[in-house]
Order: sequence, then C-alpha cells, then structure tokens
Amino acid sequence: MANKAIDPTDGLPASIVGPWAAEKHERLRKYIDAYRAARAKFLPPRGEGGAAYIELYSGAGRSQIEDTNEFVDGSPLVAFKAARVSRTGFSDLHFNDIDEENIAALRQRIASLGGAAHYYSEPAEKAVDRIIYALNPAGLHFAFLDPYNLEHLPFSVIERLAKLPRMDMLIHVSTFDLQRNLRRYLDQNGGTLDAFMPGWRNRVDAGRKDEDVRADLLRYWLGSIRSLGTSPAEGIELVSATRGQRLYWLVFVSAHELGRRLWDDIRNIHVQGRLL
Ligand SMILES: C[S@@+](CC[C@H](N)C(=O)[O-])C[C@H]1O[C@@H](n2cnc3c(N)ncnc32)[C@H](O)[C@@H]1O
Repeated sequence: MANKAIDPTDGLPASIVGPWAAEKHERLRKYIDAYRAARAKFLPPRGEGGAAYIELYSGAGRSQIEDTNEFVDGSPLVAFKAARVSRTGFSDLHFNDIDEENIAALRQRIASLGGAAHYYSEPAEKAVDRIIYALNPAGLHFAFLDPYNLEHLPFSVIERLAKLPRMDMLIHVSTFDLQRNLRRYLDQNGGTLDAFMPGWRNRVDAGRKDEDVRADLLRYWLGSIRSLGTSPAEGIELVSATRGQRLYWLVFVSAHELGRRLWDDIRNIHVQGRLL
C-alpha cells in the first residue's frame, strides 16, 4: 500500500503523490467543464437518463505532494468541485477504492462539501459490475480510471464499462511500472500484461528494442479499446519535461460527437509553465 499522510486541514488520511498529479487533475477539470452542455441534455429538465461520475480507483480525496507540505484535492474532490462550478452537477457519483480507509475518508470529505455519493470498497473488477447495474443505460456517463499500475486495470473493466451505449472514459495508466518491469512482464505467462491487454502476444514482437515494444504495446492496447465499439479512442504518452521520464498513458474514449473536440481541450493543457 502506498504511503499516507494526515491532512492537517481535516485530520483525515491523504495519499502522497508526485508533482505531476496537478496535470491529470487539470485534464479532469477541463473535461468536466467542457462537457457540461452535453451532460445537461441528460439531466432534468431536458433529459432523464442521468449523467453519472464514476471512479474505480478514487483514493481518499486529498493528497500531499511528495517532499512538500502542500496538500491538494484528489480527483473525486476535483471532479465534485468542477461540476459544481460548471453549474451542471452529476446525477450521481460512484466512488470505489480497494482501501477502506480511503473510502471512509472520502465519504467524510464529500459530505463536508454537502455532497452525497455511492461508495464501494472492492477490487475494481468487482465494483464495476455493481456500479454498471446502478446506472441508467439511457444516460451519458463518465468514468475516470486512475490505477497505480497496469495490474490493477484488467481489460475486462474497460470492456464492461464500454458496453454502456454512452460511457466516456478518461484513463490514466502509469508507465513507470511498465518501464521498470518490461522484460519481466514480457516473460510472464498469464501475468500482468495478459490481463491488461489480452492477446498482445500474437501482435507485439517482444524481440524489438524496449522503446519500440512499449510503443507497440500502447498501440495494441488502444486498438483493443477501439475494437470494443464505435467510440473513438485516442491516446497519448505523457513525458516529464523536467526529467524526461515517461509518466503515464492518457487515453480518452468518448461516445458522442463532441468527443474529439473535448479530447483536444484535454490534451492541450498548460500547467505550471509546461505545454504538452
Ligand atoms: C493513483 S491512486 C488514485 C488517485 C486518485 N484518482 C486521485 O487523483 O486523487 C490509485 C488508487 O487505487 C487503489 N487501488 C489499488 N488497487 C486497486 C484495485 N484493484 N481496485 C480498486 N482500487 C485499487 C489504491 O488504494 C489507490 O487509492
């Protein structure tokens, strides 16, 4: 389990994150703002299907930036506040994290903002079914998927979410893990990569250079997501401007015509002097 801190502002646990967390949160905020008009069509008085917000790896709702005394909102609070600012709230919120302490802290934090949500504390693979069951298939929903590593995001999770006719997804996958463990993963049978991107063995030549193998794996994974339906899936690999490290893959899957425009908004953000 990751290291935790106590947030002095509320006395509840917080995770410890790298400084780049701000960037993913900025993208999330952008999406929630840009997509407000689409969301409104599914909310009363204009629509009835609903617009739910889903996180399967929510964390505790607050984080400390490593090596600093700075505490920031985690993605559930970022999303909640962004929806409020956009004046187009979500019809319901579904938060899951395998760590019960995180969910207990998040529950208190959302309540202290005057919000209510459905909470789950299960492996994402299990929670996803309960959440899908609770969603109106006629709605326009949005899932933010932010696991620590590839192992926690089996492809079946994406597959199940994509079965809903209008499910947008923003997926952040850390590539530290893949970079560090690439050769070990490639040698594993029935391991992390087989769950994360089933079928990769027939499509990716593990004999190529590490960098090429990683690019091929990303391409293959995006192709697998695209093959789930007609939704456009776009992905980019984000690289730290300061240290040149690969940070994560960011993939956006959208099921409505605004999708491509939203994606352009989300990918082209400028955070802390850095244009990606
Ligand atoms: C990267 S953190 C989430 C950070 C959060 N999205 C944010 O931006 O504030 C990943 C979270 O996934 C949780 N987790 C790990 N394995 C999981 C699993 N199999 N299913 C659900 N949650 C899991 C961890 O407890 C951790 O809180």
